[in-house]
Amino acid sequence: LCNAAFFLLAWLTISARADQTGLSRCDFPEDFIFGASASAFQYEGAVDEGGRKPSIWDIFAANPRNIADGSSPNITDDQYHHYTDDVLLLKNLGMDSYRFSISWTRVFHDGRVNPEGIAYYNNLIDALLEHGIKPFVTIYHWDLPQTLQDKFGGWLSRDIVDEYLRFADFCFQAFGDRVKNWLTFNEPHQLVNGGYVQGYYAPGRCTGCPQGNSSTEPYIVGHHLLLAHAKAVKLYRRKYKVNQRGVIGMTLDSFWYEPYSSLPRDIAAARRALDFELGWFLHPITFGDYPQSMRLYVGDRLPAFTVEESRDLRNSMDFVGLNHYTSRYTQDNPWPSNVRPGYESDSHTHFLTQRNGNPIGGTTGTWLYVVPWGLYNVLNHVKENYNNPPIIITENGGLVMLVTGFLKSNFPGLVDIADSNTFSDKFIKDGARVQFYESYLTSLQQAIADGVDVRGYYAWSFLDNWEWNNGYSQRFGLYYVDYTTLKRYPKHSALWFKQFLSNTKCSV
Ligand code: NOJ
Repeated sequence: LCNAAFFLLAWLTISARADQTGLSRCDFPEDFIFGASASAFQYEGAVDEGGRKPSIWDIFAANPRNIADGSSPNITDDQYHHYTDDVLLLKNLGMDSYRFSISWTRVFHDGRVNPEGIAYYNNLIDALLEHGIKPFVTIYHWDLPQTLQDKFGGWLSRDIVDEYLRFADFCFQAFGDRVKNWLTFNEPHQLVNGGYVQGYYAPGRCTGCPQGNSSTEPYIVGHHLLLAHAKAVKLYRRKYKVNQRGVIGMTLDSFWYEPYSSLPRDIAAARRALDFELGWFLHPITFGDYPQSMRLYVGDRLPAFTVEESRDLRNSMDFVGLNHYTSRYTQDNPWPSNVRPGYESDSHTHFLTQRNGNPIGGTTGTWLYVVPWGLYNVLNHVKENYNNPPIIITENGGLVMLVTGFLKSNFPGLVDIADSNTFSDKFIKDGARVQFYESYLTSLQQAIADGVDVRGYYAWSFLDNWEWNNGYSQRFGLYYVDYTTLKRYPKHSALWFKQFLSNTKCSV
């Protein structure tokens, strides 16, 4: 009863606030889709069940030194066993869609299909559809089968392209009768940067770390990701699209980079940073080749596409997926030093979080500055430079991070462990995240009003989950998850979303 009273009170408070800002789904186009995002490795748990085999992330995470809090992803939200209840929670929030990924090693292993894995995704998809929630599937969200890593070096080998194609083909065939929205890859730039430049993601290759890397590795991996994407899209369009009538794209991470000053070289630095992150993948899948600045800076270490590959890449998406979180100021560094392989752009650029002593925005995490105008700018950048494609925001959201006094003084938005002792203060009253959503959705609405063709928005994330190398120390969920009992609790942001989505009488 006490709990119920607590949530009722929270609900009333949030409703009052949402009314105050006046923002609701009615401010967006009628067929605009709102959803929540997730990924297999961060949510499913049950790593040894149902015939699942290890991925590169299982192996990487087994070494606690790779993970900030030394935690294990083996259980995480245990969505494998909780999906029926989770679908009800999504329904209760009023979400139109759920974005999740397929675990390669759960469905497909050494060329053999695993019926138990397929049954799991069939059940999840059917449960979603039964409640009117559209499944939005990411085929690959970073969890490569370890066997493919061992056999030929994973994404470093061209052999991966056909392996990926077989997996994608299998997904279209098994689930495409019901799944109409596909993403070939999630954040290829982060995969390359974390896995092959800085080493904090699987398979942990980096300059100076024990496994080493070479100055060409990041570009080879990026190249194979692009070739695999183009082949999968070509296959989908040739073999499935007519009957299944779905759409397919790729989702890209996209900080906004704002020139630190109006000096031409700072403006060029911002453009270069955008090219080396968003453009690395968006340019080829739109125009069939890498951005000019990448070709210039990376030179012959950047692989070239054949005429046919380039043709297959051009316009190889029905929409662009964007994961957008935050922004930085960029300043040209005229004396580049310490050129890290794969970091050509960065060694020529200073990335700054303040200008003249003013922070670029508030904070919800040590890296996550709240800069809603950055979303507006990145959307307009895509519109203006990439032929105004349909866009879906596939991830956006702030986080809850518990810190000690020292970090708190540098990042005023973070939750100080010492300040707030109750469970509710620490985790449920995520007012900073409510403000994050309000401000970013307002910016999104402005971008749409100004002519950017955005079709959908997905909050990251539905539940708290295992945040890769940060383990459980960063909570992005609309729902708080107690990892001991696996109970889910709605945060204020969940209640805010429910209110935001509940206004369906738009024309009245
Ligand atoms: C991007 C990734 O796609 C997702 O897996 C991650 O948890 C979020 N960003 C938050 O960092």
